[in-house]
Amino acid sequence: MKILVTGGAGYIGSHILVELYTAGHTAVVVDNLSNSSIEAIKRVEKIVGCKIPFHKLDVRNRAKLYQIFAAEKFDAVIHLAGLKAVGESVAKPLDYYANNIDSTLVLLDAMKHYKVYKLIFSSSATVYGTPEKLPLTEDCQTGVGITNPYGWTKFMIEQILIDVAKANPKMQFTLLRYFNPIGAHPSGTIGEDPNGIPNNLLPYVAQVAVGKLDHVNVFGDDYDTPDGTGVRDYIHVMDLANGHVVALQHMKPGIQIFDLGTGHGVSVLEIIDAFTQASGKKITYKIIERRDGDVAACYASAAKANKQLGWKTARTLEQACQDSWRWQSKNPNGYN
Ligand code: NAD
Ligand code: WQD
Repeated sequence: MKILVTGGAGYIGSHILVELYTAGHTAVVVDNLSNSSIEAIKRVEKIVGCKIPFHKLDVRNRAKLYQIFAAEKFDAVIHLAGLKAVGESVAKPLDYYANNIDSTLVLLDAMKHYKVYKLIFSSSATVYGTPEKLPLTEDCQTGVGITNPYGWTKFMIEQILIDVAKANPKMQFTLLRYFNPIGAHPSGTIGEDPNGIPNNLLPYVAQVAVGKLDHVNVFGDDYDTPDGTGVRDYIHVMDLANGHVVALQHMKPGIQIFDLGTGHGVSVLEIIDAFTQASGKKITYKIIERRDGDVAACYASAAKANKQLGWKTARTLEQACQDSWRWQSKNPNGYN
């Protein structure tokens, strides 16, 4: 299939490109490079051994997006383009609503115009807000306890897609709710390259290990979890990327929703320990107060994707930390 990948230069998108080409698909990337580097695409091209068509473009640029749709005849779209920093979304809500929602509306309009019916959307476990139960399943309530505009954009886009699919029975939409993606391609040539000080745990720990940051601040050790620190479902980004390739093979009219996670919860201290083993570096940490908006624990059941897509994660936490360390130690300044 020929796939339009919006946001394909980003962390997850670059790994999806590798998996798409490895499975025999081709892709065209549209990305405005607002949170990524063209170097990521060049490195993916090295991994897959061919050129990947790239357009530096905001998805909201309807006229140019139409031109690309007219020229390319896509079989499907994977829509990753979006802003994703939780804290920044609280400070700049209009930027987040405008970017994430408008880009989806323009994309849906172009798909309708050019009769492209298949869409995979990068949703997030954040739509569950405060988990109704653990492990989370796809039928759990969403929207209760979402604490930031970023999370609301994912919730709202899901609703938009549900409504559009209802109105047009030809539409085949798959919403993938990612849990916590970590790790990197095993080559160590592509990986997560956050701007400035990382917000997420794994890149923060990796930068402490490589000596760019002094210590990890652990946000609270008084949660109702086995060691008191927050528990999350960390999924290797290559497993997540593979989930998209498998989802493409199982598209059907209407809406399908899948959680993509490992099904296991891992604590902050367990992450620090696993990264210490993988890197062989001492990782100092300090327990500080809880971070506003954090939940104690969040992990997927992973059963639906396993049953209906035949997909499950294949890589361990240890592998994820090793791959992340390979990327971080070979590229201490990311793509720069
Ligand atoms: P990323 O920032 O690395 O990638 C997003 C890409 O989209 C970037 O390359 C950015 O330049 C591009 N982009 C943003 N707005 C755009 C626009 N209007 N037009 C064109 N390009 C635009 O983030 P990521 O971690 O790879 O995440 C990819 C998607 O997955 C996002 O939608 C994100 O919300 C979602 N997601 C990420 C996580 C996570 O923890 N990383 C978890 C759940 C869901
Ligand atoms: C993980 C755990 C923190 C940093 C966020 C978004 C979510 C999704 C993934 C896109 C928590 C603790 C963290 C640090 C710490 N993104 N922590 N010290 O919060 O589960 O999810 O990214 O959709 O929407 O909210 O991920 O990596 O920030 O935190 O102790 O310096 O690590 O408290 O328990 P989170 P995270």
